[in-house]
Amino acid sequence: MSFDRSIKIAPSILSADFANFGQEIEAVEAQGADWIHVDVMDGHFVPNLTFGPPLCKAIRKHINTVMDVHLMIAPVDPYIDAFADAGADVLTAHLEAGPHIHRTLQAIRGAGCKAGLALNPGTGIEDIEYLLDMVDLICVMTVNPGFGGQKFIHSQVDKVRKLRAMIGDRPIHIEIDGGITPETAPLMAEAGADVLVAGSAVFKGGSVSNPAPYGENIRAIKASVA
Ligand code: DX5
Ligand code: ZN
Repeated sequence: MSFDRSIKIAPSILSADFANFGQEIEAVEAQGADWIHVDVMDGHFVPNLTFGPPLCKAIRKHINTVMDVHLMIAPVDPYIDAFADAGADVLTAHLEAGPHIHRTLQAIRGAGCKAGLALNPGTGIEDIEYLLDMVDLICVMTVNPGFGGQKFIHSQVDKVRKLRAMIGDRPIHIEIDGGITPETAPLMAEAGADVLVAGSAVFKGGSVSNPAPYGENIRAIKASVA
């Protein structure tokens, strides 16, 4: 995984058919997905539950691009090795998930994954200055985490612009997660983001037996930022 700041679309399988993840992943990759975004929720850090390491391990063999695992769990540290063993390429933890995010990021890299740091919409970027040399990706949440299909929070555009300036030349991806559509994507691309997660906007109207809409939806987001 070499560093590349071009725009990448990362469909979130939170909006896929949960009974059919393997084929859903193959379908969105065939239709142009750049990364696959995997939302892990614990019913404690966020008010929703999804799945854990065994599911990640099972879907790994269907992913030919990048497995981007977004942990919405607390605590994080006891589970890092299990998600690394499951094959995560990027493992992202929330700043808000505990008091020792520095240790968590060290442990993620120590386990052989790229380290991601996610920020809730209410979290500022002041506290990440001393973490910048430990992260490969910063995920700016543009909805409150927990559910797909929520409305994009516009105040985060300014946050991304400031974050982009703070990052400078460091090889750190800026990922946007929540409410990305062809209307909101250009705001974030212009502000400096390069990884756009999209759940409902990619999976709407399609299925594994009718995957063409996935491609149309991905191309519509890409065209909006071109
Ligand atoms: C929300 C998740 C997102 C979500 C995005 O907690 O982290 O990845 O699936 O869904 P959309 O694109 O529908 O807002
Ligand atoms: Zn996510």
